[in-house]
Amino acid sequence: MIKSDIGLVGLAVMGENLALNLEQKGYRVSLYNRLRENSPQAVDSFLANKGKNKHFIGTHSPKEFIESLKSPRKILLMIRAGHPVDEMIITLLPFLKKGDTIIDGGNSDYRDTQRRENELREKGIFFVGCGISGGEEGALHGPSIMPGGSDEIKKEILPVLQNIAAHLDDGTPCCSWIGPDGSGHFVKTVHNGIEYGDMQLIAEAYSLLNILQKGDHEATAQTFESWNKGVLDSYLIGITAPILRYKDTDGKSLIDKIADRAGQKGTGKWSIEAAIDSGTTLSVTAESVFARLLSNRTTERNKAHRLYPETDPAPIFELSVDDIHHALYASKIIAYTQGFDLLYNMSEKHNWQLNLADIATIWRKGCIIQSRFLYEIAQAYKLTNEYENLLFTPYFREKIILCLPSWRKVVQTAITAGIAIPGTASALAWFDGFRCKKSSANLIQAQRDYFGAHLYERIDAPAGTFFHTDWNRHGDGTTSGNYSL
Ligand code: 6PG
Repeated sequence: MIKSDIGLVGLAVMGENLALNLEQKGYRVSLYNRLRENSPQAVDSFLANKGKNKHFIGTHSPKEFIESLKSPRKILLMIRAGHPVDEMIITLLPFLKKGDTIIDGGNSDYRDTQRRENELREKGIFFVGCGISGGEEGALHGPSIMPGGSDEIKKEILPVLQNIAAHLDDGTPCCSWIGPDGSGHFVKTVHNGIEYGDMQLIAEAYSLLNILQKGDHEATAQTFESWNKGVLDSYLIGITAPILRYKDTDGKSLIDKIADRAGQKGTGKWSIEAAIDSGTTLSVTAESVFARLLSNRTTERNKAHRLYPETDPAPIFELSVDDIHHALYASKIIAYTQGFDLLYNMSEKHNWQLNLADIATIWRKGCIIQSRFLYEIAQAYKLTNEYENLLFTPYFREKIILCLPSWRKVVQTAITAGIAIPGTASALAWFDGFRCKKSSANLIQAQRDYFGAHLYERIDAPAGTFFHTDWNRHGDGTTSGNYSL
C-alpha cells in the first residue's frame, strides 16, 4: 500500500480545509477522526463528498492511521484545544516511533505546549506547537502559519507548512519557524490578542459612525470601504462593509438583529496573563477582553440603563469621519506597539529569540489581522538591529503626531456624549502615560512607604538607592541606606 506523506486528525471545517489544501499541494494525506457514538463517520462522509477522488487515505483506528504514514511520521492535530489534545496524544502514543512528529494546529495555550513538548521529547517524539490563522478560507487557500518547536525537526516540517501557507506577492511564504517550545503558539496567542484589539477598535469606530451617519448602514459600509483603500487596509476592515450591507430574509439589516454579546475562547485572556507576567502593558487587548465580558451582562446592563438615563449623543455630530479614522489608526498603532512589546519581553524571558520582522511579515497575508500596516511594522523592525518600541520609529512617530488632535477630539467627544470607547480611550491614556516626563507614581511610592515601609527612590539620588521616611517626623524622618527590597 502507498503510504501517506502526512496524517491529519480532526475533520471539523478547519481540518477538512487544511486536508484539501495539503492534497492540492501534492501531498497524500491520511485522515482520522475520533469515532463518536450515533454520529456518522466524519472520515467516510468527507471522502464521499469534498474529499472524493483525491489522494486521501481514510482510516478508522489510531493503529490503522499511524501505520498508513511514511516514517518518520508527521501528524497534524486539528482538534479542540485543551484536554482533547492530551487525550489524542495518549491515544496515538503507543503506535508512534522515535523521530515521529506531532503538530498541534489548534489554538492551544502555549504553556500546555511547553509541557507537551517537554514530555514528548523525553519519549523521543517531536512536538510542534503550530499557530494557524485565517479561518476556514485561510485553511483552504493559504493561512498564516506559526510553528514552534525543536530546531532538529524544522527541516522536515517547515517546507510542508510553507507550501500550504499564504504567499506574499514576492513569493515569501507566510510561515516561518518561530522558535523553540511554546513560542509558535505564543505568537498565535499574541496575534489573537491583537485581533481582539483590532476588532474592539473597529467596533468603537462603528458605534460613532453609526450615530454620525444616522444609522445608515450603507453610508457606514461605504466609509469602511474607502478606509480599506488607505492606511487601514486590512482583512477586518474589509469584511466590515459586507457585514453592514447584509440583509436578512425580511430585507432588513442582519447586523441590527445580532445580540450584542461577544464570545471568546481564551486567547485574549492568555495574552493579558503573559503581559502581566512579563511586565508588559497590553491595555488595548485587556480593555477588549473586558468589553466582551461586560457585553454579556445583559440583565445588569438593562437595569443600569433604566437607572441611568442616556446621555445626549449630539456631540458626536461635531466629529468628522476623518477624526474617527485617525483615532482608529492611532489606537491601532498603540495596540500593535503593545503586542510587539509583549513578543519582545516574552522572547527575552524564555530566550526564544523571536524575529519580530519575520513575525510581522508572516502576518501580512493569510491571517485575520493581515493588513497593509504590517508591512510598515516589518520594515521598522528590519531597519533596527536592537529592539525598539514602534513609537520611536520615524514612520509611526509621524503618523501618531498627525492623528493626535483627532484622536483627542474623538475621546473627549465620546466621553461627553456618554459613548463607551474603552479601546480608543485606553490607547490614548497609555500613550499619554508613556510620553509624559513626570507621572504621578511618586505619590504611589510615598503612600506605599507611609503604610508599609515599602521604600522609595529619590530623584536626587542614584537609582537603586532606597529610602524610608517616618512620615510623622517632618524634616528629619528620612533614612537611606542598605535597604533591600
Ligand atoms: C484566527 C482566529 C481564530 C479564532 C477566532 C475566534 O486567527 O483564525 O484567531 O483562531 O479562533 O478568531 O476567537 P475568539 O472566539 O476568542 O474570539
